[in-house]
Amino acid sequence: MADPQEILSRRVQSALGAAFGPEFADTDPVIRPSQFADYQANAALALAKRLGRKPREVSAAIMEHLDVSDICRDVEISGPGFINLTLREDWIAAQAQALLEDPRLGVPEQTPQNVPIDYSAPNVAKEMHVAHLRTTVVGDSLARTLEFLGHNVIRQNHIGDWGTPFGMLIEHLLEIGEDSPEADLLTTDPNAFYQAARNKFDSSGPDKDDFAARARRRVVALQSGDEETLRLWREIVGLSKVYFNKVYTKLGVTLTDKDLAGESTYNDMLADVCDELAAKGIAEVSDDALCVFLDGFTGREDKPLPLIVRKSDGGYGYATTDLATVRYRVDTLKADRMLYVVGAPQAMHFKMVWTTARKAGWLPEDVETTHVQIGNVLGSDGKILRTRSGAPVRLMALLDEAVERASVVVAENRPDLDEEERAEIARKVGIGAVKYADLAVSHDTEYTFDFDRMLALTGNTGPYLQYAQARIRSIFRKGGVSPTEAHGTISVGEKAERDLALKLLGFGPVVAQVGDLLQPHRLSAYLFELAQSLTTFYEHCPVLTANTDIERRSRLALIALALRVLVQGLDLLGVESPEHM
Ligand code: ARG
Repeated sequence: MADPQEILSRRVQSALGAAFGPEFADTDPVIRPSQFADYQANAALALAKRLGRKPREVSAAIMEHLDVSDICRDVEISGPGFINLTLREDWIAAQAQALLEDPRLGVPEQTPQNVPIDYSAPNVAKEMHVAHLRTTVVGDSLARTLEFLGHNVIRQNHIGDWGTPFGMLIEHLLEIGEDSPEADLLTTDPNAFYQAARNKFDSSGPDKDDFAARARRRVVALQSGDEETLRLWREIVGLSKVYFNKVYTKLGVTLTDKDLAGESTYNDMLADVCDELAAKGIAEVSDDALCVFLDGFTGREDKPLPLIVRKSDGGYGYATTDLATVRYRVDTLKADRMLYVVGAPQAMHFKMVWTTARKAGWLPEDVETTHVQIGNVLGSDGKILRTRSGAPVRLMALLDEAVERASVVVAENRPDLDEEERAEIARKVGIGAVKYADLAVSHDTEYTFDFDRMLALTGNTGPYLQYAQARIRSIFRKGGVSPTEAHGTISVGEKAERDLALKLLGFGPVVAQVGDLLQPHRLSAYLFELAQSLTTFYEHCPVLTANTDIERRSRLALIALALRVLVQGLDLLGVESPEHM
């Protein structure tokens, strides 16, 4: 489809070849958007050195061979030797027209790859807190985007459903009784359940019949496959899933039960992982534990840092399961590329796991692994977001508050709508605001959680973009036309029309870029700019009261296209688009 930057790049490239010979035919002409023209080719400066000629001369030689008359209305050399390129209005209009008829809105269909995406991954029987909000929201947006680009995305929710805490959780469940109201906490406030078990453990006496000793015996029973213990474990995990699903439904993320691939899934592979590493001489026993020592990984005082794959007590840990995830995703899921959307502090862990897997031959060179690092969410005090009492913030409570606050705004702005509809808008706006705030900043930087800012109707916020699309819908309602029927011939006489149309051509390229770079904030930035172009457009270009019918139909077609781009773009971010606002 029509990415002007890409088309111009190819044209200038072939002019380079024609001007200076075939060895220059694949030189990158470095086309960038420019404030003096639509685009600027910047290659001449670097080429001048190579050719031993003046940059302006180089540009003149390129221009002699440059054939862009069908696309550009102005081509001129500027400054020290840039080539300024200004697009033709009829070309922009024709491209926008083509997008209007394109169900993919200019988004390329890429060669499908198998892409397992590891994201969300909360821990069972602990509250999903704000850190998991980001891994969930960013991961889901990447899954949606890569799927839209044509890839086979395989969602992998690596929940923490195994390990020593289950000893105390199971003992606690037995003590309170499986049918007790406290057991229900697992589906409503799992953190409270976890805390209760933890408190018992911490204040337990030392005797063999005391809680702590029983909990430890439970861990052994669980690992050796004791049936009754496994049944209780399954019950706790099952109830926790109910809770996770509540959060996922509220958030509107695409994860379902079939995407669950928790730590326990890999239990049967762990012994083999260790045996193979030992047999291949990659792992060695050190202080009774089986460890991998890798070049270049050192801890304090330059001591080699081990990746522990089997603890001295024979148990397996987080690293062992993650080595198994690599094998499973390569061998069974046939991964071409794999993403792990996980907190930034785990960067070292993944580096060590992947280096080990490559050494063991489990991770072929051509399978790319990426840790999509997730930064912290901070409170107004600049520290990790907590409640006033210092406890971790409950995700569910946070989402409820967002919807509550949004409903106050909706009630003020739209007293004319009935209550049910207002509630539905408030839900979309509240949840959308939280998710958008998370996606509008680059995923590896920290951001400060601030309800007032994320719910504001101005600035780079979810509600601002939701409003931009609702406003288009309301123009169509007023005009008595449906956006799907707006097929007028687009022309771009006014500058604001031209800017809007050109912006719309940028959707496909930006979505492709998000897929390559795994940075949803680039899509947010694009949508924000698009919404701003729309505002300027309304200021200069009346739609329903345009001068002529042709002009009115053209403008309706243009905003119909803008509506589809906004709705599609927000959907790729996982943000819903309300009909009214
Ligand atoms: N459950 C882990 C946590 O809360 C995240 C798991 C990420 N995925 C993985 N394959 N290690 O920190």
